[in-house]
Amino acid sequence: MKNDVKSVLYSEVQLKERVKAIADQISADYKDKELLLVGVLKGANVFMCDLMREISFPIQIDFIAASSYGHSTESSGVVKILKDLDFGIEGKHVLIVEDIIDTGLTLKYLTENFHSRGPKSLEICTLLDKPERRIAKLDVKYVGFEIPDEFIVGYGIDYAERYRNLPYIATLKESVYTK
Ligand code: IMP
Ligand code: MG
Repeated sequence: MKNDVKSVLYSEVQLKERVKAIADQISADYKDKELLLVGVLKGANVFMCDLMREISFPIQIDFIAASSYGHSTESSGVVKILKDLDFGIEGKHVLIVEDIIDTGLTLKYLTENFHSRGPKSLEICTLLDKPERRIAKLDVKYVGFEIPDEFIVGYGIDYAERYRNLPYIATLKESVYTK
């Protein structure tokens, strides 16, 4: 697997440091509030696990699975909820945890959908952001790193469902895509 990596964008150490800094900010902002983290499966899984363990007070978690990409590297703009939340979010402080925002179409759909369920507050936290590619306007409260328009994998993020288990964020060699 590591032979397929072209270059490492963020190492395990860099990710750990940045995740801790975001968690500290969240802990300060939501102090004395009941916070529900909603992880967007599958990509945000690894980020969510690390992030929640750095938050300093008891929180609740839930997950939603939404498809936007299929097996291509281009967004289809079509969002389908594959697994909905287990519980209602009415009256709750909800923070959506996402792996990467690209066109923003997935999160635009999800935030509109969540708003209709009546949360007390709704914010977005993403590990990675590709602002150059944005189509849908979004207010993102927490961003780990802004990255250029490059296709990346690792730390939960896949190419055709593979490479999620790389412990760092990396680009892949051209040969991987032409296999
Ligand atoms: P959006 O709807 O275009 O913002 O797409 C967001 C989703 O596309 C992310 O949650 C990822 O699952 C996927 N995605 C976007 N960019 C990349 C990438 O560089 N590598 C892998 N998946 C990506
Ligand atoms: Mg995702």
